Amino acid sequence: MSDVIERAAAHVRAVMSGESSGHDWWHIERVWRLARRIGEAEGAELPIVELAALLHDLGDHKFHGGDLTAAPRIASEWLRSEGADAGLIARVAVIIGTLSFKGAGVPTPMHTLEGQVVQDADRLDAIGAVGIARAFAYGGWKGQEMHDPAFQPAQHDSFDAYQRVKTTTINHFYEKLLLLKDRMNTPTARRIAEARHAYMQEFLRQFLTEWEGTDG
Ligand code: ADP
Ligand code: NI
Repeated sequence: MSDVIERAAAHVRAVMSGESSGHDWWHIERVWRLARRIGEAEGAELPIVELAALLHDLGDHKFHGGDLTAAPRIASEWLRSEGADAGLIARVAVIIGTLSFKGAGVPTPMHTLEGQVVQDADRLDAIGAVGIARAFAYGGWKGQEMHDPAFQPAQHDSFDAYQRVKTTTINHFYEKLLLLKDRMNTPTARRIAEARHAYMQEFLRQFLTEWEGTDG
């Protein structure tokens, strides 16, 4: 089992290195490490956790025309090419297929402990200092504005609206990043999320003060 994990890491590293939208290999490496840590603390089955963490963004819907079936399909195809057991493939695929955030008003239930661990690790990498950096990297890559004071954040109640409605990077904090702390599945991740959340709140306070020029 550790062999297939090592080969998954090498494969994903080769495919995702040098990517600039925030879905690069280093995102995967951080999620993998955090998922192992949370998985150990929560007593999850680590091989499933590690494979789902490593393979979760190979077929991200944002790069496949919004197709949510691409990610589980591409992960399954790779595992099949490795001769992995069908039961294992199904367990990893269902996690990858249900991982994504889909808007403030859209529930994203995760039914297995292993899936909860990977979802928490992926979401923790979207908040805190790294999360702030990734949001601006993604916003720049997408060509969206950093901020527009006249533009109110939305609470999307469908995945379609969340994907389609134009936003700014500052609004993305209110539309997703600040909501993640209360959507963590495991106690271990909830604890890690607290400090990352507070850091983002402090960042936004400072950003908006500088924007108004009322600081100092
Ligand atoms: P998930 O891992 O839940 O599928 P995404 O793939 O949508 O999340 O997001 C990947 C990264 O890009 C996250 O750090 C996320 O916050 C950021 N991101 C997504 N959409 C935007 C946006 N419109 N503006 C800024 N950052 C974004
Ligand atoms: Ni991810």
